Amino acid sequence: MSTASLEVSGLAFAYPDGHQALFGVDFSVARGERVALLGPNGAGKTTLVLHLNGILTGGTGTVTVAGLPVGKQHMAEIRRRVGIVFQDPDDQLFMPTVREDVAFGPAAAGLRGPELEERVDRALGRVGMAEFKDRPPHHLSFGQRRRVAVATVLAMEPEILVLDEPSSNLDPASRRELADILRSLDVTLLMVTHDLPYALELCPRSLVLSDGVIAADGGTADLLADDALMRAHRLELPYGFDPRSVPAAPGRS
Ligand SMILES: Nc1ncnc2c1ncn2[C@@H]1O[C@H](COP(=O)(O)OP(=O)(O)O)[C@@H](O)[C@H]1O
Ligand SMILES: [Mg+2]
Repeated sequence: MSTASLEVSGLAFAYPDGHQALFGVDFSVARGERVALLGPNGAGKTTLVLHLNGILTGGTGTVTVAGLPVGKQHMAEIRRRVGIVFQDPDDQLFMPTVREDVAFGPAAAGLRGPELEERVDRALGRVGMAEFKDRPPHHLSFGQRRRVAVATVLAMEPEILVLDEPSSNLDPASRRELADILRSLDVTLLMVTHDLPYALELCPRSLVLSDGVIAADGGTADLLADDALMRAHRLELPYGFDPRSVPAAPGRS
């Protein structure tokens, strides 16, 4: 039995202006699990994500990543272990070439030479972007930039991959390609999303965050089929979408 990839316990947080966004959040994610984090606007999802690698601190409660507490003492190691893919890939890509963007983190962590090149090639290969290595990121499509953003994080070999709205602004083909890539990754995944069919397709388990607390934690298909729960937390399925008609995401062992 290995330790959980992520353990959040009693996490509460108020912004400096006094607005309290989290009121005691508890959950854990086992290694290799894929979990969706659902919830209406303003529920505290982004606030929670920003606690996972210590961008926000100073509240009460604890976050641990593979047993290591998130806190000032281990910040470099925490940042390596928790790979966050932000909503806008252009916040994450700033180098002249794809290769340099993907090499940036591992190089800062001390990797050099063939070891670094191998790390870059492997990360780009995992997102199907190997042949774009020498291209400037701003010449790529939005979907390709998002895949490169995923590669920059995978290159750090994180304990957990956290994605904020990975399917937003993607056309249907890019959305499906990204789903195939995410499904193929052998990594613990926490995905914030408003795209409920995407959650169902990719994540066997979902958490509903609402008003700063976990309102539900269970099988994605079961939660999406619970009309009262969905209505209570302003979660709406696309018109005509029946969660019972879709085969649930297969779990990995
Ligand atoms: N910098 C901030 N200062 C004060 N309140 C904030 C700040 N950022 C977010 N909030 C508030 O905290 C709550 C949770 O926000 P957020 O985590 O962004 O929710 P979500 O990502 O689920 O939409 C909201 O009520 C929001 O208005
Ligand atoms: Mg948000």
